[in-house]
Amino acid sequence: MLLRGSITNIRRFTMVSSKSILSQFNNKDLLQTKSYVNGKWEKSGDNKTFTVKNPALAGNDGELIAEVISATSEDFNNAVTIATTAFKDFKKTTPRYRSDLLRKLYDLLIENQQDLAKIIVLENGKPLADALGEVKYGASFCQWFAEEAPRIHGDIIPSGIPGSRILSIKQPVGVCGILTPWNFPLAMITRKLAAAIAAGCTAVIKPPPETPLASLALAHLIQEAGFPPGVVNILPTDRTPEIGKLMCEHPLINKISFTGSTGVGKLLMNQSSSTLKKLSFELGGNAPFIVFADADIDKAVEGAFAAKFRSSGQTCVCANRFYIHESVYDEFVENFVAKVKKVVKLGNGLDPETTHGPLIHGRSLKKVQDHVKDAVSKGATVLTGGEARPDIGQYFHELTVLGGVTQDMHIANEETFGPVAGLIKYKNDDELIQFVNDTSVGLAGYFYTKDISNLFKFAEEINVGMLGVNTGLISEAALPFGGIKESGFGREGSKYGMDEYMTIKSVVIGGNA
Ligand code: SIN
Repeated sequence: MLLRGSITNIRRFTMVSSKSILSQFNNKDLLQTKSYVNGKWEKSGDNKTFTVKNPALAGNDGELIAEVISATSEDFNNAVTIATTAFKDFKKTTPRYRSDLLRKLYDLLIENQQDLAKIIVLENGKPLADALGEVKYGASFCQWFAEEAPRIHGDIIPSGIPGSRILSIKQPVGVCGILTPWNFPLAMITRKLAAAIAAGCTAVIKPPPETPLASLALAHLIQEAGFPPGVVNILPTDRTPEIGKLMCEHPLINKISFTGSTGVGKLLMNQSSSTLKKLSFELGGNAPFIVFADADIDKAVEGAFAAKFRSSGQTCVCANRFYIHESVYDEFVENFVAKVKKVVKLGNGLDPETTHGPLIHGRSLKKVQDHVKDAVSKGATVLTGGEARPDIGQYFHELTVLGGVTQDMHIANEETFGPVAGLIKYKNDDELIQFVNDTSVGLAGYFYTKDISNLFKFAEEINVGMLGVNTGLISEAALPFGGIKESGFGREGSKYGMDEYMTIKSVVIGGNA
């Protein structure tokens, strides 16, 4: 179905080299700039808009991608009321019906993958191949939860009281507030939304101001897939703190799912306390990557490159600090640095030769520069990279490897969220465990070894929610994704993901005895 108004929207897209990009879009209805509420496209209550910019072209002519409406508190309140009304019917739908909706959405995401990937490249800056990977990853959550929906089972539990039985039934939690980050503009929504829909919940979604366009393209496909009006509502806004607070405090929102920084997670948890909402938070990490003395160094180098530099280091599961056993340190360093020098081409993600894009904004670039500066001032050596690249674009930074990093440097203690690998030489297992676990967060970790006894010992010792052993890439729909400590709680994807959107009701049936 063609949407009225979409031609106007297309004209408002003034992308760089944009004319040629636009003319290549197969489905121009994916380009939307209004809120999707109750199955319709709505303006902002006060007519305000904000600009979406291409980080690869920051400061250049044509960085503007689109003017998008900025939804107000009143718009969000209205969407919550609509989602609450929609929930009354949606919670009664059969799991098979919801499965079919998700399967249809999966098919549409795959059908539109090329266009969706280009939208992600434009607003996020990641290379086209990575953006295509994200679309498939995002779609896979719809496929996964389409398969999970018909398998919501309860229990019949023997009671301690003669003749009685206890039933436990799983029910949808209600209206879900979904708050998502810019690093995966599509996949971080579907990972939450598909589980919520499978469970029978309705949703109000606030995408990030940096990357609202992929979420609005998703809204269009949700409409195409035939989701009932009001079940999914997506409202772009640049009033982030105000809307985050509204959603956390709203008495009609029963659940908040958030992916973002630990600092913001703490704030949202505080704000949610007045209504004691069900929460799931996927927050920051500081992932260790360990190379044991017996590791296959070639494979460890490949894994380290993938785990560190995916999306230019801008994922929560990116390796942040590398612990290399002293006996293989020199060999690892030589091969790793050679790999970084050989394969990398920074640039605009739409250029097929580009392997790595820019950072998302100036704040991210500054943090990267601060970590490099701090490490060097405390004795680290720049083995490759080390510099910002304003000649390519305002937010570009070289893929950087630092040798001789120590535990007292910022890079060993805080998530860089950028393309810097800090290499630390370690001597023995006790020292290693002490270093690795000396942090307040615990999202992902990685290690390379050929020794099966290392596998179990360290898999149990390392304090994280997810571990990659002899692999640098762990993310997929089947993985229970989530952290421990200040990296948050709750699991997304996997057979556990839907539990975050359901409550267990116990029904005691009295016996005759
Ligand atoms: C994230 O950065 O929050 C998600 C990364 C992933 O799903 O692999």
